[in-house]
This record gives sequence, structure tokens and C-alpha cells, in this order.
Amino acid sequence: MAVTTVPHSLPPLDPPSPRPPVVAPRPPAPVSPVSGGAIVPVSATLAANEALARRRQAGKPVLPMAFGEAGLPVPPILRDALGAVTGGNDYGPVAGRPGLRTAAAGYWTRRGLPTAADAVVSGPGSKPLLFGLLLALGADVAMPEPSWVSYAAQIAMVGARAHFVPAPPGEGGVCDPASLARAVCRARAAGRRIGSVIVTLPDNPTGQLARPSTVRGLAEVAAEHDLVIISDEIYRDLVYDTAPPVTSPAVVAPERTVVTTALSKSLALGGWRIGVARMPDGRLGRVLRDRLLGIGSEIWSAPAGPIQEVAALAFSEPLQIIERIRRSRHLHAMVCCAVAATFAAAGVDVPAPRAAFYTYPDFAPWREHLARRCGVATGADLARHLLDAYGMGVLPASAFGEPDSALRLRVATGLLYGETDSERERALAAPDPLTLPWIAASLDRLAEIMADLAP
Ligand SMILES: Cc1ncc(COP(=O)(O)O)c(C=O)c1O
Repeated sequence: MAVTTVPHSLPPLDPPSPRPPVVAPRPPAPVSPVSGGAIVPVSATLAANEALARRRQAGKPVLPMAFGEAGLPVPPILRDALGAVTGGNDYGPVAGRPGLRTAAAGYWTRRGLPTAADAVVSGPGSKPLLFGLLLALGADVAMPEPSWVSYAAQIAMVGARAHFVPAPPGEGGVCDPASLARAVCRARAAGRRIGSVIVTLPDNPTGQLARPSTVRGLAEVAAEHDLVIISDEIYRDLVYDTAPPVTSPAVVAPERTVVTTALSKSLALGGWRIGVARMPDGRLGRVLRDRLLGIGSEIWSAPAGPIQEVAALAFSEPLQIIERIRRSRHLHAMVCCAVAATFAAAGVDVPAPRAAFYTYPDFAPWREHLARRCGVATGADLARHLLDAYGMGVLPASAFGEPDSALRLRVATGLLYGETDSERERALAAPDPLTLPWIAASLDRLAEIMADLAP
């Protein structure tokens, strides 16, 4: 049932800047060529990945669990389709080619979100689309604590402020609705306007899926405070238990929800750089679409033409694609649950993973022991210690907006599936991938590390 709504008002476009006063020309000041630019450090994920690569080059063993890479080969049907593309070298429409937009509209329609091709905007990955949306919206943004590393970085880049709001206990990816309402009022009292809220369904980093009642509560708060909801559903097809289906805020609040997705996770095509956004119904959707297209036209023009053609095939979901995603989901679920079980057996708190390829263990029960034995006081200390002492790459909770003192870690399993495409294909085909020697060896290594680190 749709939540009662009020028409959303986007912030007015900035008025033209006043003409600068005429001043006498001055000799140019000796400035650094990069002074005054935006300082955005390399994403925490990519930085950890580079540290692991250096270790591997030095011949040291690694357990690579920092990078959010799905770690699977290109599905053969898409590899063949890309090989057969002969055109696609014109720029094409900024929103994307009609075939891709129609296929993405069909993908959403089959998931209970009736979508017209005109409501779809594509981009070179969902990351630039999210950035474009944040730039188009302009105001401050609320998001769950913890949440994916790039949201806060992108919000800072558009000159807005990120407001972290905790998820309800035991959930992840969606702000607790009552806390969100309080954050909006607090921000308003401090002279700031929160104009949108990001949700991640299901979630990176926690691997959790918010309850439908939480999504409905969030939609009510969004309607009350006139917030746009940005629903990042890039992991939607990787929820282990497919019944009941994911409740998108676009079902409950279609007039104010933008949905983004991509092929980077479900089909492991991150390097092909293709993503799609589904605009809200009505006036807000039209205004936001126009702004996003303006931004896209000045930054990326359009995603690569041949990739759009292959993405259209993927979003049309032939049987081979459905089966590929089913097997990927099975592999992620098996390995992720085994990793979580290894942490739990060692005495670390860890919620059961419900989607994607992430677990989010909490080493708080070992806090005093870790401080005494290894001088670990923060999550970053713990991640560094695991890297230096054992070659295990993980990301600290602070990379996702949690306090430095949190001893939670995001542990990703996507790079454990094999060193070669043939190993990874065998992992995908295996009814029990945990019995494959390379996966079993990684799990054994993790158990060894935990045993060595335990009190
Ligand atoms: C939650 C989430 N959203 C979006 C993305 C961006 O993916 P892409 O730009 O490849 O579509 C990622 C990638 O790690 C992610 O984890």
C-alpha cells in the first residue's frame, strides 16, 4: 500500500552568480597547481586491495577479503554476445540506448516495479549515477551507519553533509525510521536541510536485509519530511532466501524513490561499467531525470555502446542468466555462511549473513585481550594487525562511517573462489563449493588465524 505523500519540491536551481566586481589586475600568486581542489583519498577498498597486491608481489601469503569484487568470470552468453557486437561506436543518447532502457524496465517490472523505458537512465556503473543524483539533489543526505564507503565520499564531493543514522538493532542498510525523523529535525534546527536518504537493499557492509516494516516506516518518515529516497539495490538478486521478495521503497513510495542497480555484483561485471537508475513517478521523476541527464551529458556522455547492447541482453534475463545468478547466489551463500561460522566458532559476534558476499563480525568480546596482546584499540588497528601479521585483508567499520573504536570488520568472500577462471567456474558449478581444495584452504587459514588471535 502506498504511503500518503506530499508533492516533493526539489531545491530551486542556483540563481546565476552575480557579476564579479571589477578590480585592477594583480600579478598571479605563486600557487600549487592542485591547491583548492577537492581532496578525496583513494577509496578504502581500493587502497586495501593495493596493499594486498604489494604483499602478494613480495611472495607473502594473503587472505584477500577486503575487496567487494564478486570474483567470478564473465558469463559465457555475455562474453559471446560482446564478441558479436559490431557497432555501437556512436555516442548514442545520454540516457542510454532504447534496447537497454526497455530491458532494464522489464527487469524492474518483473520485480513488482512497473517501469517505462523512459524512466530509465543508464550510466557507466551505478557509482557515477549515484554521484549524479547527489549532485542533482544538492542538499544534505541521511544514510545508515554503517553504509557503503562511497556514499559519504560522494556527498562531501558535492559539497553537502552526510548524516549517519543507525539501523534498527539486528538490521542493516536502512536508517531506523524514528532516528531518521530526529536527525532531520536536528539538522533543521542547526540550519541544514536533509533532502534525501540513501538505503542499501540488501546491504554492504553488513550483508543484512532490512525488514519490510522498516522500509515502510522509512517511507512514512520520508513522506512526512519530503525526502527523496535513493534505494541502492545493486545486491538485490543476491539475497540468499528469495522468499519473500525484497520490499523496495519504490513499491511503497513510488513518487519519491529512485532505484539504482548494476550488473557488477549479480553478474560480476564491475569492470564493464554499466549501471541503471529508475526515476520516481510524476513530476519529481521528470525534474530529477532532466538534471541527471544534464550532469551525465557533461561527465560521461553515455556508457560504452557495445556494453549497453550486452547489458540489454543481461537485463532481459534469458534462462542462462537466471541460472548463472542462481548459482552465484548459492556460492556466495555457502562461502559467506562458512566464513561467518568460523568467526562464531572462535568466539567473535557475527550476525548470520543474508545476502551478497559480506560478513560483519564484531571483535568487541576480545577488546581487552586485543589491546593487551597486540596494542589494538580501534577497528583500523585491528585491520592493520590482520594484514601485517597474517596477510589477511579486511576493512574496518570506520571505513563505513562507524566510530574508530568499533571493532567490527567487513569481510568479503568474493576473492576466495579461485585464482583462475577455471577454478571459479568449478566453484560456481559445485553443489558443495566448500569441498574444493582452494576454498577449503582459505577457510582453514581463517580458522588458524582466529585460533592464533583468540584469547
Ligand atoms: C552498495 C554499493 N553500491 C554501489 C556500488 C557501485 O557499483 P558499480 O559502480 O560497479 O555499479 C557498490 C560497489 O561496490 C556497492 O557496494
